[in-house]
Amino acid sequence: MSSNYFPYRDGQLHVSQVPVARLAEEVGTPFYCYSADALENSYRSFAAALSGLPATICYALKANSNQAVIKTFADLGAGADVVSEGELRRALAAGVPAERIVFAGVGKTGQEMIAGLDAGIMQFNVESLAELELLSQVAQQRGTTAPVAVRVNPNVDAGTLDQITTGRADSKFGIDATEARDFLTGTGSLPGIRFEGLAVHIGSQLTDIAPYRTTFERLIALYHELREAGLPLRRLDLGGGIGISYKHHLQEQVEEAEQRVRDYAQVVHGLADGLDAELVFEPGRLLVGNAGLLVTRVLYVKDNGERRFVIVDAAMNDLLRPSLYDAWHEILPVSAAAANAELRPVDVVGPVCESTDTFAKQRPLPPLKKDDLLVFSSAGAYSFVMASTYNSRPLAPEVLVRGDRSAIVRARMEYDAMIGQDRLPDWQNERADGDNPQKTALGAA
Ligand code: LLP
Repeated sequence: MSSNYFPYRDGQLHVSQVPVARLAEEVGTPFYCYSADALENSYRSFAAALSGLPATICYALKANSNQAVIKTFADLGAGADVVSEGELRRALAAGVPAERIVFAGVGKTGQEMIAGLDAGIMQFNVESLAELELLSQVAQQRGTTAPVAVRVNPNVDAGTLDQITTGRADSKFGIDATEARDFLTGTGSLPGIRFEGLAVHIGSQLTDIAPYRTTFERLIALYHELREAGLPLRRLDLGGGIGISYKHHLQEQVEEAEQRVRDYAQVVHGLADGLDAELVFEPGRLLVGNAGLLVTRVLYVKDNGERRFVIVDAAMNDLLRPSLYDAWHEILPVSAAAANAELRPVDVVGPVCESTDTFAKQRPLPPLKKDDLLVFSSAGAYSFVMASTYNSRPLAPEVLVRGDRSAIVRARMEYDAMIGQDRLPDWQNERADGDNPQKTALGAA
């Protein structure tokens, strides 16, 4: 979280120029809040680091697919990296031109291929020979040709969490480089398929740049080899994965993260020199991670023996990362604590009936009481998008702030909308109403 976009003014946390407490009054808690100024800044910084390169930045929608967020980037010229028909539709609806969309993902269905072909996207990143065969059939049936980049598994350890590493030989992603080479040099052509490039993505939240260099070098070597073998390749998709700083109180971590982008860009500039290829980048977290907050309210403070629990109204269904990956999010009070406030270790937990519904264990925080507002920072990426309605908790709303303006960019899910998705089977409806208290309870839903 760049502190500029989330400053304390007169002891009150703001998003750009809007006080978080005022938004909480307006929309209720929990809610997500993003700074459009921070989104624009992160995009512009990344684009500036890559300037001079023939690059398309395809924002990885999976990190945050709110229409307003996608449109913020689309308006700055971004393309999109999508992994499902749903994301493809979101990108198109937000105004991303089809020719700037790459369709990635290890399990595209025939229907999704049709959607991509009909839209006229830039390329499909194909992850297996079986997928290539299906795409060939589908494209022929549609009387068209599919532009393809083969996603290569470079067998590089990205040095990130096991759950989010994707470039090792034991991962489900991509095609083994030797297999890809043998196939492409052996077959060369497949009806309905136009090979245009190669793609890689070795993992997410990478804090070390060295694995990128190894990966890109391997990819470029293969690119040259295939071109020499006569394949008309012209594009390299270098994926995403650059890590951000989740610890804003540690200045050195923030600086390290900024340096990382420069180091990454330097590696790319160095390797791209003299390389005859268009480049595609698929950043997700880097563009949105530090541009968002999850705002929550303290429900209760409870002491169980030695341990103090702060029970908040957000839960693992709203922000899954701590439960799923043990991920660390900074927790800040919306009203700044007094300078001399004593910090005390507490467990910050949600109301869901699971022990893993824990945001932080033994986190030193200033004194907190019922109704205090807190934020989880760096909640712009892989946060709202991974939410569920577990425990029948409606999805939280999302707010976008720009300067002194704010807008609800996704309304809180209504209870009726959530429950109304359910249908009773015929045999429950067939019984007389008097025998079926449930039907009466659900009314005509
Ligand atoms: N391209 C591909 C093919 C990907 O699989 C991903 C992320 C990206 C780009 C964007 O990566 P980024 O720049 O955001 O690191 N839910 C996890 C992260 C999963 C990442 C999945 N793939 C988390 O919350 O940390």
